[in-house]
Amino acid sequence: MISPLRGLCILALAVAAPPPGFGASKSPVRARQGMVVSAEVRATQAGVEILKNGGNAVDAAVAVGFALAVTHPSAGNLGGGGFMLIRLNKSGETVAIDYREMAPGGATRTLYQDREGNVVRDASTVGYRAIAVPGTPAGLTLALAKYGTMKLREIIAPAIALARDGIELSRFESESLKGARKLLERFPESGRIFLRDGDYYAEGGKFVQPELAGCLELIARNGAREFYEGSIAQQIAAAMKANGGLITIEDLKNYRAVVRKPVEGTYRGCHIYSMPPPSSGGIALVEMLNILEGYPLTRYGQGASRTLHLMAEAMKRAFADRAEYLGDADFVRVPAAGLTSKKYAAERRATIDPFLASNASDLGHGRPDLYESGQTTHFSVVDREGNAVANTYTLNGVYGSGVTIPGTGILMNNEMDDFSAKPGIPNAYGLIHSDANAIAPGKRPLSAMTPTIVTRDGKLFMVLGSPGGPTIINTVLQTLLNVIDFKMTVQQAVDAPRIHHQWTPDRLVLETRGFAQDVIDALRARGHRIEERDSIGDCHTILVDPDSGIRLGAADPRNDGRAIGY
Ligand code: DON
Repeated sequence: MISPLRGLCILALAVAAPPPGFGASKSPVRARQGMVVSAEVRATQAGVEILKNGGNAVDAAVAVGFALAVTHPSAGNLGGGGFMLIRLNKSGETVAIDYREMAPGGATRTLYQDREGNVVRDASTVGYRAIAVPGTPAGLTLALAKYGTMKLREIIAPAIALARDGIELSRFESESLKGARKLLERFPESGRIFLRDGDYYAEGGKFVQPELAGCLELIARNGAREFYEGSIAQQIAAAMKANGGLITIEDLKNYRAVVRKPVEGTYRGCHIYSMPPPSSGGIALVEMLNILEGYPLTRYGQGASRTLHLMAEAMKRAFADRAEYLGDADFVRVPAAGLTSKKYAAERRATIDPFLASNASDLGHGRPDLYESGQTTHFSVVDREGNAVANTYTLNGVYGSGVTIPGTGILMNNEMDDFSAKPGIPNAYGLIHSDANAIAPGKRPLSAMTPTIVTRDGKLFMVLGSPGGPTIINTVLQTLLNVIDFKMTVQQAVDAPRIHHQWTPDRLVLETRGFAQDVIDALRARGHRIEERDSIGDCHTILVDPDSGIRLGAADPRNDGRAIGY
């Protein structure tokens, strides 16, 4: 059964989606200096303007992050969290900024269970108790202070103007708001701001957000501490107290964004940098690439049933390991080196039958310790110096918990659902977790977000990432394989139909209309249980042409994204 939250997420991603498939969009956008690709055109433009005014990729990325909070409210946010991967071209230094949300101090392991130990429906997904301490204001301002060059008020200015002066809503955004009415109308402030109390925004309607503009102005003036200690913090804490939420002023004050070392791996001569825990994305991506490196995929061919079978088997194994081992590495030991080692991948590969699907329930997780040594949105930015940013951030479900803190215009996440409400019980994305992802005060829930940067011969090659819950990791994987193994252009790689397997439930999900019946029949004959889905992922990607250095921007045609370069 598809849970309401997952249903919403899929719906929002599918609004206005053209059928996926080859040739769904034009060639990638080409530019010599800088490129921004995001889910919404005005946010992309805000980033490009910053680049043109001399800002670097981090300046532009932070501007896009603030702008999307205004123009793409289903996922862009101040009240959520995410991950930013940054590569500085001169030194090659690559860092990961973790601004994932955090469980409040009052959170307990059994927070979402009743007295009998049953998980309470919607408790971790809707309303005040589902909200984790937001990380976005801390993360964006930390990235800017450490790696940017411009002042916060210059960077936030486009977002303030978009909120204060209003934007004309696209069909995509107006449909998305209307599609979320069941969630948003449960909370009066959300209903008033995003649904006009039932007088819904139509395509082309003017969407003005004065309260959000006010908060952005305060942050521009006083920095993120306004959100964590100042008047916004007071408003959040008061609303929490009045509505049974857990977040206190202390929780807000204690929040920190953290600079971490990226997960690294190699694949057929490319170097992969991706997100470490509390995301599972980087580790699972590298594990799958390592497994697949053992097969001559180029020869098998893109979209061939043999290739898809092997990809699905690699996905199952990586997701089984994810369920068992991954959690916030500040709280639990994650065998990252083992999971990403080539030897471990060889062992996992040896369990794959080249012809038949393995039964997910027989599969279980492996023993990486033996090799141990020591509605979300993604945007990608490259500047004229070749600095790169891959950023994925989220409210978790589309429009998060549905709660807007009164007086602020800030929508809050429902990221608590990414924890395990109870080991073995699936969350809104059907994911099962172990104790490693149990709830604890101050802990960060496990994520699948996979902002990724790839270099080849030491030079920047690709910048990518996607929304889509667990499908994120597989979306990034397939975009990489399409370029590296199947020699597609970056736009073809992004457009191409996608598959998804997450170990449990034991289903191989295929994008509708993406695959020939012949291929589907062949996969069924190998023992895969097939399910169709309208659309998987929204992978906004940049590739730097190794010969000319030209930046090639590919927005995903499945939604409303846009690449603009100069
Ligand atoms: O961090 C995660 O893995 C999830 N909260 C992401 C949710 C998501 O991508 C929803 N998007 N459609």
